Amino acid sequence: MRQRTLRQMSTAGTVIILVGLATGTAVLGQVQKEHEEAKGLAALMQVNRQHFEAMVQTAYFEGAERRLQSSDYQNIRQQAQAIAGIARQVQQDYSRGERFEEIAGDLQEHAEEGAKAAPREDLPEINVQIGEMAEYCAKCHQEFRW
Ligand code: HEC
Repeated sequence: MRQRTLRQMSTAGTVIILVGLATGTAVLGQVQKEHEEAKGLAALMQVNRQHFEAMVQTAYFEGAERRLQSSDYQNIRQQAQAIAGIARQVQQDYSRGERFEEIAGDLQEHAEEGAKAAPREDLPEINVQIGEMAEYCAKCHQEFRW
C-alpha cells in the first residue's frame, strides 16, 4: 500500500517535471522567436537608414550644390524603390497591428511616388516625397518604438 503510494507519487512527479520541461521549452522557443524577429526588424531598419541617407544626400544636399545628372536620378529611384520594398516587407513579416501597417503603407506610397518622380527628373517633387517619407519614419518610431 505504502509502496504503491510512493510509486504513484513518483509517477505524478515525473509527469509534472515533463510538463514543466515542455512548457519551459515552449516559452524559451517563443522568447527566441521574438528575439530573432526583433533582430530581423532592426537589421532591416539599418538598411532602410542607408537607403534614406543616400537618397537625402543626393536629392537634398548634392541637388543644392550642383545640377543632378540622370545617373543621380537613377540612384534616387533605386533608393526610393528599396525603401518601398522594405515598407512592404515590414507590413508582411513584422506587423504589430493595423495602425503599424497603415503607417508602413503610407511610407510605401510616398516612396513609390518618389521613385516615380525620379525618371521625370522632378527634383522638387522628389524632395516633397522625401519629406513625407521622413514623417512616416518618425511617426512609426514615436508610436511603436519609444
Ligand atoms: C511601420 C513602422 C516603422 C516605419 C515606417 C519605420 N520604422 Fe524604423 N523602426 C521601427 C521599429 C519598431 C524599430 C525598432 C526595432 C527594434 O529595435 O526592435 C525601428 C528602428 C529603426 C532604426 C534603429 C535600428 C537599430 O539598429 O536599432 C533605424 C535606424 C530606423 N528604424 C530607420 C528608419 C527609417 C530611415 C525609416 C523610414 C525610411 C523607418 N525606420 C521607418 C519601425 C518603423
